[in-house]
Amino acid sequence: MNASPLQPAQGQPGTKEGQTLYGGITNRRVTVRDIAAAKQRGEKWAMLTAYDALTASVFDEAGIPVLLVGDSAGNCHLGYETTVPVTMDQMVMLSAAVVRGTRRALVVGDMPFGSYQESSSQAMHNAARLMKEAGVGAVKLEGGERSARSIELLAEAGIPVMAHIGLTPQSVHAFGGYPVQGRGDEAAHRLLRDAKAVQQAGAFAVVLEAVPAELAAQVTEQLAIPTVGIGAGAGTDAQVLVWTDMAGMTAGRVPKFVKQYANLRAVLGDAAREFAAEVGAGTFPAPEHTFK
Ligand code: KIV
Repeated sequence: MNASPLQPAQGQPGTKEGQTLYGGITNRRVTVRDIAAAKQRGEKWAMLTAYDALTASVFDEAGIPVLLVGDSAGNCHLGYETTVPVTMDQMVMLSAAVVRGTRRALVVGDMPFGSYQESSSQAMHNAARLMKEAGVGAVKLEGGERSARSIELLAEAGIPVMAHIGLTPQSVHAFGGYPVQGRGDEAAHRLLRDAKAVQQAGAFAVVLEAVPAELAAQVTEQLAIPTVGIGAGAGTDAQVLVWTDMAGMTAGRVPKFVKQYANLRAVLGDAAREFAAEVGAGTFPAPEHTFK
């Protein structure tokens, strides 16, 4: 049986019992202070995306300490080709659902394309919407040096900010795809500058997406805030995956850095086919599914 979400998990590997990011907290959500303490202890942790209450509740009960309502909802939930069309109203609605479905996880709401690049005051207005209307505990936005002023304003206003550097998918059209970032001396130095700029601006963590493992490990060593890697090797403090990739729900090819821990697409497809076959054969509903 699973441990209750409000009970400390027992004997987590590699950590002192009762002192893990998830297991050490019994009656409140994980906070950015807990995350800072995990970096001090050298505890690695996992983050998953979530876009709805039911899936989020599964991850919350499974002990995932941080859930990101990513704008990857664009590709993975809303049927767009990229994250670019995602709106603030959509992010508020999805984030509120994830908050409602969880009790323990820190929920981070992603700021979609066009919701913060115009000015720091636009960033403040929209980050406040995610906090007030959806109830998230933190927001995430893309960009290093270019987003530092906005991060600073949000952090000063008491809004925890997770930064996101390296491959920033909202810039897919400028990148011309999803190329690995930070290759070569100049690009590596730029990535390091971006990482230091967001730390200096007050970000509590930074996502490093699609960067060479050695560079991500160097950035991790040089920062006091935790790094959250996706396609950034094993040397970061935390790892994030898009849940539909991680669980094998995504159709077609997934990026090289994804490990599929289940094959949900096949499981759901089989269930749907069996249901349809039984309806066709007249064997569903059976007497036990029928009111008398
Ligand atoms: O939107 C998202 O899911 C993300 C993660 C890939 C970090 O930004």
